[in-house]
Amino acid sequence: MTYQVMPKVELHTHLEGCAPPSFIRGLAKEKSVDISGVFNADGSYSYRDFDHFLTVYEAACTTLQGPQDFYRLVKAVLEESASHGVVYQETFLSPDFCGGGDVEAWRDYLAAMETAAAEAEAEFDITLKGIVTAIRHFGPDAAKPAALCAAETFGDFITGFGMAGGELAGRPGDFAYAFDMAREARMPLTCHAGEWGGPDMVADTLRDLKVQRIGHGINAVRDPALVDQLAEAGTVLEVCPGSNVFLKASGGWDQHPIKTLRDAGVKVTVSTDDPPFFGTTMTHEFNMLSQTFGWEEADFKDLNQTALNAAFCDAETHTKIAKRLEA
Ligand code: HPA
Ligand code: ZN
Repeated sequence: MTYQVMPKVELHTHLEGCAPPSFIRGLAKEKSVDISGVFNADGSYSYRDFDHFLTVYEAACTTLQGPQDFYRLVKAVLEESASHGVVYQETFLSPDFCGGGDVEAWRDYLAAMETAAAEAEAEFDITLKGIVTAIRHFGPDAAKPAALCAAETFGDFITGFGMAGGELAGRPGDFAYAFDMAREARMPLTCHAGEWGGPDMVADTLRDLKVQRIGHGINAVRDPALVDQLAEAGTVLEVCPGSNVFLKASGGWDQHPIKTLRDAGVKVTVSTDDPPFFGTTMTHEFNMLSQTFGWEEADFKDLNQTALNAAFCDAETHTKIAKRLEA
């Protein structure tokens, strides 16, 4: 049994991290950008650990030099996601890579990405929404213009605000200004926490940034009281098991906390994070969860429904996707 054709809802992807290696190599050649060190001899992305991954990621991003490149990226990414049954995807978009945090430049990049998403919807039957994302290791001062870009463009396509990057850079409260700005614009919020940080990082993120969803959150499992708190509050975890196994944030598929968290009543969802970097796809995630934990179609339907309920999109999109999940 393979889950490739089953319709899927995916909440946690990084747009540039979904770029097929051949796409980045093609851009580099076109623009004569030096990307030595980004790829292994076999053509896969090359890095040693999570910190080095972030460095290689940013090096790959130097090939993306204008709105038209992001237009092409969105098309390439959505064609690939749709081939794995994804019908609705949310992706993190960083103004830092799209005009350096300048709101007017950001609008130009966004217009190109929205056009691409609309075309991909018609061609591949997949809906994309964007979550504007601050990059944590760029610091709290860089998070403010990212939040301003978010608040200024919140609407049909940009549906939320979040934070990715090096989780251990600073404490959540250091970024409260940016999250307050987005919350005051009535944006739904998410933040990476508990992938590398402990339960305290998850707890502080909930307390200081008041997010509805947590990116990863798996290390919450080490604190039973926090697990109860997550279950009670209905906090949604955007769990990326393949990413965690690949980067060794988890000891292996059989030791991955997603089952324990789900069994404890925490709302878990499944995503790929940066699929070509971590050798995964949504099909692979579902297949591995099925093999490891014996999860079946009913479990995946339940995970999809949890994800759709937690999606940051408008009611009309929600209804449309719900119909596709039933089909
Ligand atoms: N985690 C954190 N930050 C990131 C990632 C990721 O997987 N991808 C790009 N930025
Ligand atoms: Zn992530």
